[in-house]
Amino acid sequence: VIDIRKLYAQTGMFTYDPGFLSTAATQSAITYIDGDKGELLYRGYPIEQLATQCDYLDTCYLLLKGELPNAPQRDEFHNLVIKHTMVNEQMQFFLRGFRRDAHPMAVLTGLVGALSAFYHDSTDINNPEHREIAAIRLIAKMPTLVAMAYKYGMGQPYMYPRNDLSYAGNFLRMMFGTPCEDYKVNPVIERAMDRIFILHADHEQNASTSTVRLCGSSGTNPFAAIAAGVACLWGPAHGGANEACLNMLEDIQRMGGVAKVGEFMEKVKDKNSGVKLMGFGHRVYKNYDPRAKLMQETCNEVLAELGLENDPLFKLAKQLEKIALEDDYFVQRKLYPNVDFYSGIVQRAIGIPVNLFTGIFALARTVGWIAQLNEMIGDPEYKIGRPRQLFTGSVRRDVQPLTKR
Ligand code: ACO
Repeated sequence: VIDIRKLYAQTGMFTYDPGFLSTAATQSAITYIDGDKGELLYRGYPIEQLATQCDYLDTCYLLLKGELPNAPQRDEFHNLVIKHTMVNEQMQFFLRGFRRDAHPMAVLTGLVGALSAFYHDSTDINNPEHREIAAIRLIAKMPTLVAMAYKYGMGQPYMYPRNDLSYAGNFLRMMFGTPCEDYKVNPVIERAMDRIFILHADHEQNASTSTVRLCGSSGTNPFAAIAAGVACLWGPAHGGANEACLNMLEDIQRMGGVAKVGEFMEKVKDKNSGVKLMGFGHRVYKNYDPRAKLMQETCNEVLAELGLENDPLFKLAKQLEKIALEDDYFVQRKLYPNVDFYSGIVQRAIGIPVNLFTGIFALARTVGWIAQLNEMIGDPEYKIGRPRQLFTGSVRRDVQPLTKR
């Protein structure tokens, strides 16, 4: 690793690295990925252990504070979060300004940004107390906002949070409950939802996290920085891949299902087709994404619980994976399933509409964004993020009068 800052100070030289393929923009002690081994650690703990032995709020505590909570710390943190699950009642009037058929990510970007208009006592990013309360508010309110966006799109009444339920259970009830009947949380689905949240909680310096850091580096408020992350996550090359992957599976199914997999794969390998195998490939993982393995397990559990073992899209996904893992095109490029390959099938089975998948990813990633933002602000060396450019435009020239242009 070369610290180019010294070279820059001495000579004015800087690097050209579009897409940040070989540039570390920060130091970080939060999440570690070994892309060759297919290993993911949050604060040193393997994702497999966190996904099986902890819940999402434990994971939030770990990401924010660096250690897993002990029992009293866990209770205190859970209580703090559930105190903040309600959103200001005025938010629903803001929500009403959107068309009902708006994409939930458009709505969510607006809602998260609008939090800064309601919680003025937590908007000073340089004040640690403001940052702490903004963190709790964001983690607590994201499920409420995502569920409100969903209910609004459906034309159904919002469900207020029920704080005696778990974080995931409360979210499921706000999504699928109605004021007319008592919604019973299915523990298998609740655990699956919680696992989806854990697996998406942080992933070091991906595009949306880097966006949050860059946005926050100007000194803007935490809600605005997280809204920028939501907007960035929306893209199909990033968080939008789960939606794009499910749409892809549905398209293949319409074309004829498993029988058409070979034909589809030929298109993927044809560079002129513009078709990608969505949910495959990753900038850092050059081995199986460990989250995809856990997600595939969750997929099996959820489908079995719901009696959907023969789900055609799951069969299709497994067939695509099998073919890809044996195909030279994918082997040579080290392309493996990423977390999005199976997460869409799980969410669809739970009843979550496809266009809300990325919103759920945003909900879960919020804690990672906040942890990364806090780490940056707490770093005495932090500066406003300001990439350089290689200028390729016109050299200096003079404005001509209108008649001569
Ligand atoms: N299908 C087919 N070919 C692929 C795929 C894919 N999913 N992914 C990469 N490739 C090919 C590229 O065309 C390129 O081929 P070439 O060397 O012949 O030009 C090679 O593999 C390397 O890929 P790059 O695009 O250079 O890799 P990069 O690191 O820039 O992109 C990315 C990574 C964006 C994730 C890419 O693999 C992709 O678009 N995947 C599909 C979308 C997706 O699943 N995104 C989710 C990522 S995980 C997340 O954000 C949660």
